[in-house]
Amino acid sequence: MNADAHEPWWRDAVVYQIYPRSFQDSDGDGDGDLRGVAARLDHVAALGADAIWLSPFCPSPMADGGYDVANYTDVDPRFGTLADADALIVAAHERGLRVLLDVVPCHTSIEHPWFAEHPERYVWSDRHGPQNNWRAAFGGRAWSRDERSGRWYLHSFYPEQPDLDWRRDDVRAAMAGVLDFWIARGVDGFRLDALDRLLKDPDLRDDPPASGPPPLPEQGECATLDMRHSRNAPDIGDALAALCAGAGRDALLVGEVYLPADMIAPYLEHVDVAFAFELLHARWHAGAVRAAIASALALEGRAAWVLSNHDFPRLPDRVGMRNIRAAALLALTLPGPVFVYQGDELGMADGPGREPPHDRAGRDRHRHPMRWDDDAPHGGFTTGDPWLPAVEVVGGSVAAQAGDPDSVLALYRDLIEQRRELGEGMELVAAGEGVVAYRRGVQHVVALNLDDRPRPVPPAGEIVRFTHSDRCRRGATAPRELAPGEGFLARV
Ligand code: NOJ
Repeated sequence: MNADAHEPWWRDAVVYQIYPRSFQDSDGDGDGDLRGVAARLDHVAALGADAIWLSPFCPSPMADGGYDVANYTDVDPRFGTLADADALIVAAHERGLRVLLDVVPCHTSIEHPWFAEHPERYVWSDRHGPQNNWRAAFGGRAWSRDERSGRWYLHSFYPEQPDLDWRRDDVRAAMAGVLDFWIARGVDGFRLDALDRLLKDPDLRDDPPASGPPPLPEQGECATLDMRHSRNAPDIGDALAALCAGAGRDALLVGEVYLPADMIAPYLEHVDVAFAFELLHARWHAGAVRAAIASALALEGRAAWVLSNHDFPRLPDRVGMRNIRAAALLALTLPGPVFVYQGDELGMADGPGREPPHDRAGRDRHRHPMRWDDDAPHGGFTTGDPWLPAVEVVGGSVAAQAGDPDSVLALYRDLIEQRRELGEGMELVAAGEGVVAYRRGVQHVVALNLDDRPRPVPPAGEIVRFTHSDRCRRGATAPRELAPGEGFLARV
């Protein structure tokens, strides 16, 4: 937890998510790397972000894009070296950017030495087969047979990711040591992966059949079960306390807790903020978006807003290309920290992925290389053969959008700059059908039209930023009607 509870640096921070394999390749091998990230930090600083979150770069067989870690205290050679990580942390700090690392405590890679040398640290069935009916997040049963011992181990995700037994003190101490290791190297916080899966029912009881839809979307068979025993155990606080102790007092701890806001309180006793996944999954419909915001606002500044990341369809594919500017307006004017996934600031859409896929769960499409320069091979991402094909962006690359005041990139920059002026608090205000409107602080009003026809909006004073600056400039009187996909930030 942050030492100064009144004014933590992250209170309204913009955190830019970097997926290192797809950001910038520095050595022509087709994989992005840490030197590449360092070389592109000026883009992140120019955007106005406060921090970067780096998806995992530790040694990994890459069965789950690096979320299968084989050594928590080193760098995978495809991404560079520990010295490169140190240099990246310094380079970020020089630009006023804080650095968050992704730590994956729930499971290791099956190739982590612990699995062979310390099998007692994992969760095993005491039967000659699965212990129960639990399902893995990406499909299939959550138990697989270890060829070496013939015993069955638990995996909440891929079979290549055996779950650690978080009721064991040695597991808790080892993972707290990982946080401590990276804090000593200068990082400013962590995004903690899959926390709702950390601790399960101690008796490994069956999950009952689901009696309705899951609280958040689940893949395949997970949705057929009420996952009350396979995750989110009531004593999760003990495990989190032990884990978070490794981070010291000042680090920002962001929980990836895949639960609705009203189930997150026990996690927020130990981490600073947790992602508000209800908004990410909300249908682009005024009622659904309003409800998701209201539910996260109940967390009183402890919701981390996120509209896209490496796991889910990108914004144009989820909300529609017409609405990506309004989505940016929404995300960047909500109170509390907000996470922006690389490429969102360009309006980047999903790509085709590739065959055969790298990710069996179909997430390659959300992970195509960043688009730097339309005139350079592979959009400036690599001089080699990219691990996923470079895809064009409708509005153009960073270079193409940078000088255009009407671009999506300019909208992100302007909104991030303006965000500092919004003042405290937020109140949803009554608005007609299809419209979401709210007041920020005492002076600012935000309104956006999520409908597919023009809609009237409440009176709002003078425009600070319109989603489409070529339609309505700063200083103009806020219009009383918005076309589909339009929105504004105004000052009363
Ligand atoms: C959430 C991560 O964002 C995702 O990419 C990963 O597959 C799972 N956790 C399992 O670690």
